[in-house]
Amino acid sequence: MKKILVTGGAGFIGSHTVVELHNAGYEPILIDNFGNSSPSALQGIKHITGKDFIFYQADCNDNQVFDKIFKEHNIDGIIHFAANKAVGESVKDPLKYYHNNLNSLVNLLKNMLKHQVNNLVFSSSCTVYGQPDTLPVTEDAPVKLAESPYGNTKQISEEIIKDTCISQPHLRAISLRYFNPIGAHETAEIGELPIGVPGNLVPFITQTAVGIREKLSVFGNDYNTPDGSCVRDYIHVVDLAKAHVKAFELLNKKQEGHYDFFNIGTGKGSSVLEVVKTFEKVAGQKLNYFIAPRRAGDVEKVYAAVDKSVNVLGWKTELDLERALIDAWRWQQKLKQS
Ligand code: UD1
Repeated sequence: MKKILVTGGAGFIGSHTVVELHNAGYEPILIDNFGNSSPSALQGIKHITGKDFIFYQADCNDNQVFDKIFKEHNIDGIIHFAANKAVGESVKDPLKYYHNNLNSLVNLLKNMLKHQVNNLVFSSSCTVYGQPDTLPVTEDAPVKLAESPYGNTKQISEEIIKDTCISQPHLRAISLRYFNPIGAHETAEIGELPIGVPGNLVPFITQTAVGIREKLSVFGNDYNTPDGSCVRDYIHVVDLAKAHVKAFELLNKKQEGHYDFFNIGTGKGSSVLEVVKTFEKVAGQKLNYFIAPRRAGDVEKVYAAVDKSVNVLGWKTELDLERALIDAWRWQQKLKQS
């Protein structure tokens, strides 16, 4: 059974990916420092899969840890999720982001080279496109000047990986540029666990509906979109998790020295107000919201061209917005009970 090391394996996307790796017959090994996640996710994974797994509580900046793991296990590949991801926080504390997101990647790559671990899937973001000139945005679109230190770390990370692949013919890597991941596992055993006030839309919606927040601010209704609110490509986290399994299948088919990147989205744009309306429908209740001023740094609209991910990666989404919101809502209600 191939062993895949998942950094940030207790996180929102990491935990769902661990489940899908397990379903596809891989043995996931996890590393997480619980910097933005909880040990409860590990229990959730065990409940879903019925399996135990090896877990290292450690920081990816620790330069001993990968050496130790690669000595202890014959690792076939890595999925590198572990990173900070709050846009606003990155503006306030850029060095935290440059240190955590870049240093950990360099540390990982150095150890991959040392131990001849050759396959890497990297967690990137559609933020690299900024506000694209044409929509849907294809992978050929230029990478725009980053709007935030967080976005910059994703751009620089992709370049670090590409340059390392060029210099090291045995290394193979794929960056997955996620659009907006939402939802939760259908079992409600794992899901998103925002710390403090959620910055992202869907956790804010579900927390408002359950009474933790008083009302949702819809940031702007004067954009050049059909209803004036921003448009994004919301993707179910389970679909997103499955894309990582496909990425490994593709890497294993490729020649040495391969680097590529893919959009991971549905191909469909939805506005903030559409998300609110769809949530009201699936939850069977009205949501308390108001129109607030635009949020600094928001792009007006972005959604993915999915031709490359369909044709080259052999992956596409199966679950829609409604289903993602049903699962997010079930997860929020479970959190309330616990
Ligand atoms: C942002 C980042 C993305 C990153 C993701 C991770 C950018 C441009 N995007 O996505 O790279 O991967 O966070 O968390 O840097 N909204 C409201 N009210 C709220 C919250 C959000 O109206 O209380 C709106 C926003 O204005 C936006 C949409 O909902 O139009 C989605 O926002 P959010 O969930 O924060 O994601 P992004 O900003 O798209």
